[in-house]
Amino acid sequence: MSMIQKPRGTRDFLPEEMEQRRDVEGIMRTIARTWGYREICTPEFEELELFTIRSGEGIIQEMYVFEDKGGRKLALRPELTAPVLRMYVNEGRTLAKPLRWYYFADCFRYERPQKGRYRQFWQFGVEQIGADSALAEAEVILCAHEILAASAISFTLHVGHLAFMRSLLSRLSPDDQKKVRMYLDKKDTRGLEEFLSTLGETDLAFSLTALAGCRDLAGAFAITGDIPEKDRIEELFSILDSAGIGYVLDPGIARGLDYYTGMVFEIFAENLGAENQVLGGGTYRLAHLFGGEETPSCGFAIGFDRVMVSRGERTPPESLIAGVAHTPDGRSFALTVAREFRNAGIRTELALSGKSIGQQLSTIARTADYALIIGKREQDAGRVTVKNLRTGTQKELLINEAIAEVKGSESR
Ligand code: HAM
Repeated sequence: MSMIQKPRGTRDFLPEEMEQRRDVEGIMRTIARTWGYREICTPEFEELELFTIRSGEGIIQEMYVFEDKGGRKLALRPELTAPVLRMYVNEGRTLAKPLRWYYFADCFRYERPQKGRYRQFWQFGVEQIGADSALAEAEVILCAHEILAASAISFTLHVGHLAFMRSLLSRLSPDDQKKVRMYLDKKDTRGLEEFLSTLGETDLAFSLTALAGCRDLAGAFAITGDIPEKDRIEELFSILDSAGIGYVLDPGIARGLDYYTGMVFEIFAENLGAENQVLGGGTYRLAHLFGGEETPSCGFAIGFDRVMVSRGERTPPESLIAGVAHTPDGRSFALTVAREFRNAGIRTELALSGKSIGQQLSTIARTADYALIIGKREQDAGRVTVKNLRTGTQKELLINEAIAEVKGSESR
């Protein structure tokens, strides 16, 4: 029979990789927590409708959709903002606002797989629900910046606001606006120009391209004229300036999802190729579409797998391993020794086959730094023979001395 392979676009993770992923996840969690964000969890699958209401065509086409035995139309979550806001409407409406929630979870999108683009991938995200101010938006951006900086990758932060584009597009129908946003999100200038020329809007193509290339507020307002959001936008950027983080003002950000309403931001890793966007986020309103009150919200999601690709392969810090070789009449003491070593925080692996001590030692030597040898003599004396597998030296010690010996070498 031929070997069964994992589904296309999915990955297996060996322990070395998993340990590194958990370390980075831990960094992200710690920072989110210090900003007051608390972890939540939503189901892996949801009613299909949750995502068709406002997520946008792109996402809908990429969704894993299925029917369960009860005939319900369900979808594997392609992202978590809609699920989190559904949960907020179901469970969180009476909680004190603003709510600060974070998640680390897998998402599913039926995309063409390549490096950094998978069909199952993980997002680390935050959603801040029920605040509506420039400071609230700045907090989300600054928190994202701190998390990615602590993840040790080099990146560029782009911050924009949909009001710029919206003011130029207001004379188009909602459907045409959507199409324009899609071309902008894909950075497809040619497609955009062709589409607008079929509408007889060649001038608009010119202004949009100028806006997308603009990198300062004065220039952007010169193209759009005074817009109602002007003060709010200026306040946001002045907070970012005073926080001293580097960013690029980018009025061309359109975002691929349909629910954004105002500030939008994206972060790009400097050392990645085509799939270099490691974060997307912004302000949005979704609660009222799910049966709640209209609630201003703001959040982001980090493409965790892309952060890991950007960090590259790193050798994890080594942690010592002790292997326990034992004879049948030393077994009960071997179990005691192993327990004491583990209680002291040392990774301890018991030889599991009943082979000779020599054979056990050669197996242990493949992974361990120390061998703890326990036979009848050691059991009777309450002592352990500790063999340093790097130097070959061995000593017979009491359990606590043996622990000190191994731990001592760890800190050297
Ligand atoms: P998004 O831009 O669709 O936004 O996804 C966020 C990040 O997930 C992307 O920037 C990218 O790094 C990563 N990502 C997306 N698709 C894939 C894939 N196929 N393979 C690997 N990584 C991928 C959202 O999902 C919004 N819910 C973000 C948000 C939260 N907005 C407000 N709150």
